[in-house]
Amino acid sequence: MISEISSRRSIRRYTGEPVSREQILALLEAGNRAPSAKNRQPWHFLVLMGKAKADAVEAMRQGIAREKAGDALLPGSSRYLPGAEHTADIVEQAPVLILISNPYGYRLDARLLPEQRIYDLANLLSVGACVQNICLEAEAQGLGSLWICDIFFAYEELSRRFWMPGQIATAVAIGHPDERPAPRPRQSLKDAVEWREA
Ligand SMILES: Cc1cc2nc3c(=O)[nH]c(=O)nc-3n(C[C@H](O)[C@H](O)[C@H](O)COP(=O)(O)O)c2cc1C
Repeated sequence: MISEISSRRSIRRYTGEPVSREQILALLEAGNRAPSAKNRQPWHFLVLMGKAKADAVEAMRQGIAREKAGDALLPGSSRYLPGAEHTADIVEQAPVLILISNPYGYRLDARLLPEQRIYDLANLLSVGACVQNICLEAEAQGLGSLWICDIFFAYEELSRRFWMPGQIATAVAIGHPDERPAPRPRQSLKDAVEWREA
């Protein structure tokens, strides 16, 4: 196993040290080399720093406040709102937030035919491979990363503020780590693997 796979952690504390454009480009180069369904490369990156990143934090907080006020896009997920507030605090600390859109993505409320769902699934799996490459490259460079899906609590707010081709699919925060968290537990492969030979 390459060492970055075992040493990478989700980083939730960052120093104030900025990350250079060259470093960010190296991460995006790694993301862009990910495998993708039919080599569609269904990703577009928006790198937010400074005031633009502060705007993203504000949008996240507005979305969380709207969800709490009852006009919720994700009413069944309200128990995760405190976690989303924590994520917004982390993004505030991190010097860089990369929004990743899927140019072929459907709106969240789209009614899809099975074929469209499979196409969408394949594209999102590809985005996942791209983000994992970014996180592993960050680890290789001594940077910390946090893959973020709490942006979905502010999906409309972020989409209105940051136009991107297609649909925003996910985000990743990047910065210099200010913590070394212990590994989080993983299930035993005994529970996850089944072998069949006949
Ligand atoms: C798709 C995805 C979305 C995630 N979203 C968040 C998030 O919004 N906020 C957060 O703090 N962590 C988020 N995480 C990080 C997970 O909590 C973390 O990967 C998991 O607990 C395992 O810990 P590790 O990454 O340190 O191994 C996300 C991870 C993935 C893969």
